[in-house]
Amino acid sequence: MTDKLIIFDTTLRDGEQSPGASMTKDEKIRIAKALEKMHVDIIEAGFPIASPGDFEAVQTVANIIKDSTICGLARALDKDIDCAAQALKGATSARIHVFIATSPVHMENKLQKSPDQVLEQAVRAIKRARQYTDNVEFSPEDAGRSNPDFLCRIIEAVIHAGASTINIPDTVGYTLPEQFGKLIRLLRERIPNSDKAIFSTHCHNDLGLAVANSLAAVMNGARQVECTINGLGERAGNAALEEVVMAVRTRQDVFPCQTNLDATQIVNCSRLVSSITGFPVQPNKAIVGANAFAHEAGIHQDGVLKHRETYEIMKAEDVGWNTNRMVLGKHSGRNAFRQRLKDLDIVLSSEEKLNAAFSRFKDLADKKHDIYDDDLQALVNDTLSTEYERLKLISLKVCSETGETPHATVIISIDGKENSATASGSGPVDATFKAIETLLEGETNLLVYSVNNITNGSDAQGEVGVRLEKEGEIVNGQGADTDIVIASTKAYLNALNKILAQVERKHPQGARAV
Ligand code: KIV
Ligand code: ZN
Repeated sequence: MTDKLIIFDTTLRDGEQSPGASMTKDEKIRIAKALEKMHVDIIEAGFPIASPGDFEAVQTVANIIKDSTICGLARALDKDIDCAAQALKGATSARIHVFIATSPVHMENKLQKSPDQVLEQAVRAIKRARQYTDNVEFSPEDAGRSNPDFLCRIIEAVIHAGASTINIPDTVGYTLPEQFGKLIRLLRERIPNSDKAIFSTHCHNDLGLAVANSLAAVMNGARQVECTINGLGERAGNAALEEVVMAVRTRQDVFPCQTNLDATQIVNCSRLVSSITGFPVQPNKAIVGANAFAHEAGIHQDGVLKHRETYEIMKAEDVGWNTNRMVLGKHSGRNAFRQRLKDLDIVLSSEEKLNAAFSRFKDLADKKHDIYDDDLQALVNDTLSTEYERLKLISLKVCSETGETPHATVIISIDGKENSATASGSGPVDATFKAIETLLEGETNLLVYSVNNITNGSDAQGEVGVRLEKEGEIVNGQGADTDIVIASTKAYLNALNKILAQVERKHPQGARAV
């Protein structure tokens, strides 16, 4: 029998630390449910002490998710650990993840502590976490640049204090696969009580090696991998869950372990995370990119048609491609709509939200003949993202003609009052964004703009993602429509509404003018 490889997903914690990837509580719940459905073993739901919003999100996820262990992050400080324990109280299975930096550069400059002081603090913290649960994980932050002798010392001590998982982070994505694999082997071989804990990896992708390093660790005895959907995460991101899982599954000839994951959920999860965060998936991304299974070259197509394995090492349907079933159309009623959402595990919290989504569905069905599951996901994203709306699109008129400068007239309601503006731009989208800007105070910087087709065909919905910066706040917005100028406008307003919501959360007394 082969070992089990534990999949620890940190999309909701490390993934969310990516600038602009912040998620609302409801968005986190939707992702957590998708991860649970995919049989992820452990979901790191957040860093409870970081903010009241993070605390609430971890608490809610802990109360709702039953089949995955829910983990909360804590520095090696009493207040962090108590806060994480409090947030995790309702979980069926909970883990506290304690970390402290162990590399010379972090200990000297960030912590300003000696190695002995760091060791003592780590041991104290693990003992405190053990008062709440026997499922405690320890991470020596920046282990990739830490002294291996010191790592051996601190890890032996924290295992003795009760840590049952030892996670080795390559925090800055500095190590190389062979080196990282050797480090895991060395720690397991040299630490006398290493057999009392499961070794784990947490690799960042600064050199594009996060997955390779994680797999090297697995080859050398790690039995937990920390990863994120689509490799989301700070800077260049974390190890991509889908790549780790499919490498282990496809190369069972070399990996002595297996995951529990239902890989057919991978594409759905990838799309959900991409549309919620507004981080598009590059077309040539392994496993979940639109081209990952597309055989363009004639010689490849011929080979695949004759014998699939000539050019394909995995089946597209094994990771959830081609399950994009046609579901509903113009004549589908409310019950069919409700049932399909249920089948897709999309729960709308009130009848009012269901009605709003249904009415959007009817509008879409007027424009688009076949409504696919992906259309429904985008439609629900759109409906939920408009829950908090100080800015609402009332109407949009754009004029785009060869040889003429495009212009747009937009009417938006701002806190219930209608305002109209006209502007010209280099294209209809540019003109529309400029028109909206004339109605707002302060400068907005558009950092990212992307359009993806949700399904195929020229009547497909376009899903637009924007990342905006306004007065230091960075947010992503999404919008979907069969008309990409309208989709773009929805995405822009969605991002602006999020900025207003953030400002209001920070300054509840003085809701600012738009
Ligand atoms: O990258 C890192 O070191 C982390 C730790 C908190 C595990 O995210
Ligand atoms: Zn990290």
